[in-house]
Amino acid sequence: MTISLASQATDAFGQVFKVAPTALVRAPGRVNLIGEHTDYNDGFVLPMAIDRAVWIAIGPRADDTIRVSSLDYEMTEEFTLASVRELPSQPATQWLDYIRGTAWSLQLDGLSLQGWNGVMVGDVPIGAGLSSSAAVELAVARACAHIAALDWDAAQMAVRGQRAENRWVGVNCGIMDQMISAAGGVDHALLLDCRSLEGELVPLPQATSIVVLDTGTRRGLVDSAYNERREQCEIAATHFGVKALRDVSLTSFAQRQDELDEVTRARARHVISEIERTTQAAKAMRAGDRALLGQLMDDSHVSLRDDFEVSSEALDTIVDCARGTDGCLGARMTGAGFGGCAVALVDSEKAPAFCTKVEALYRSRSGHEPQLYVCAATAGASVE
Ligand code: GLA
Repeated sequence: MTISLASQATDAFGQVFKVAPTALVRAPGRVNLIGEHTDYNDGFVLPMAIDRAVWIAIGPRADDTIRVSSLDYEMTEEFTLASVRELPSQPATQWLDYIRGTAWSLQLDGLSLQGWNGVMVGDVPIGAGLSSSAAVELAVARACAHIAALDWDAAQMAVRGQRAENRWVGVNCGIMDQMISAAGGVDHALLLDCRSLEGELVPLPQATSIVVLDTGTRRGLVDSAYNERREQCEIAATHFGVKALRDVSLTSFAQRQDELDEVTRARARHVISEIERTTQAAKAMRAGDRALLGQLMDDSHVSLRDDFEVSSEALDTIVDCARGTDGCLGARMTGAGFGGCAVALVDSEKAPAFCTKVEALYRSRSGHEPQLYVCAATAGASVE
C-alpha cells in the first residue's frame, strides 16, 4: 500500500513539474492504545504510529513559493512564504491551510524556509480519528526542514505542528497526535509524558495484533464537545489547586471528590484513573502481559463511556461486538470520540477471523458500514 503511494507521488511529481523529485517525505497517522483525553491534562498517552501515512514528493524552488498538488483533492495550490508570516483574521480550514499553518508556525520560531514544489497523497482516512491532520502537518514540516536543511527535532516539530492546528486551523487539540506522528517507532507504542514531552518506546506484545475498527460514523472535532471537556477538566484542576489533573493522585481525588459537582467529578475521575491505567498498560506491555493490557483497554472504554461521556452508540456497539468475538483481549474507543474508530487487541492467529466476524456482526447490529484493519506500528515522520 505505502509503496504504491510513494510511487504515485513520485510519478505524479514528474508529470506535474517535469523533473524528478529530490526527496520523498512521509508522516504517519496514529491509533492510541490507551490514555484518552489525558494529553491536555498534562498526563500520559500510549499511541502508536500506523502504516497509513501522508507522502509528499518534493523538489526545491528558486523563489519563496510552496506549490503543492494534492492527488486526493485533485487540486494544485500555491502560496508564498511571505504571505504566511501573520495569522489569518479567522481560523482557516481548507486542505491548503494545514500546509500554510505549518509554514507559518515554523517561521514564527524564526526558521528560514525556502520554496518547494510537492505532490501529496495519503491513505489516512480523513475525519476518522486517526490523525490525518497531524500527518499532514508533520509531513509538511519534514518537507520544509529537508528543503531548507534545518535540524529535525521530533518534539520541537510536533509542538510546531500542534501550534498550526491550534492557531491557524483553530482546533484546540493536545500534543499526542503530532508527537506520535513525529516520533513513532517500528513495532512499538510511545509512552509519552505530555508535560515534559519525554517519550519512551514500549514494544508491542508478541503474537498480538492491533486492529483498528472504523465505525463508519464521523463527528468533527471542532464543533464537538471537545472544548467543553477541556474546560471541565480545567475547572476540576483549579478546584484542587493544581496546574492540571495530572497533579491529582487517585488517593487525594478519593478524599476530596465530594467537593465537586457530579459532572465535574465524573470528568476528573476519568482523567485521573486513565492516567494511572496508561502507565500500568506500559508496564503490562513491558512484562508481556497482554491479558492485563486488554483489561485496561476495556476499563478505559467504560470510563470514557460513563464518566467522560465521549463515546457514541456506534462506538459502544463495535466495542461490544469486538469484546464478544474470539481472540479479543480488549477493546475501546480511540481518539477524541463521538464517532470514528475503536481499537482492539487481538490474538494474531485469530485476527483474520476476528475481522470478518466483527464486520458482519457490527453491520447487522448498527446498519453502518465498518472498516477493520490490522495495523503495524511504524516509524515517525521520515525522509525516504
Ligand atoms: C484528539 C486530539 C488529541 C487528544 C485526543 C483525545 O485526537 O487531537 O490531542 O486530546 O483527541 O485523547
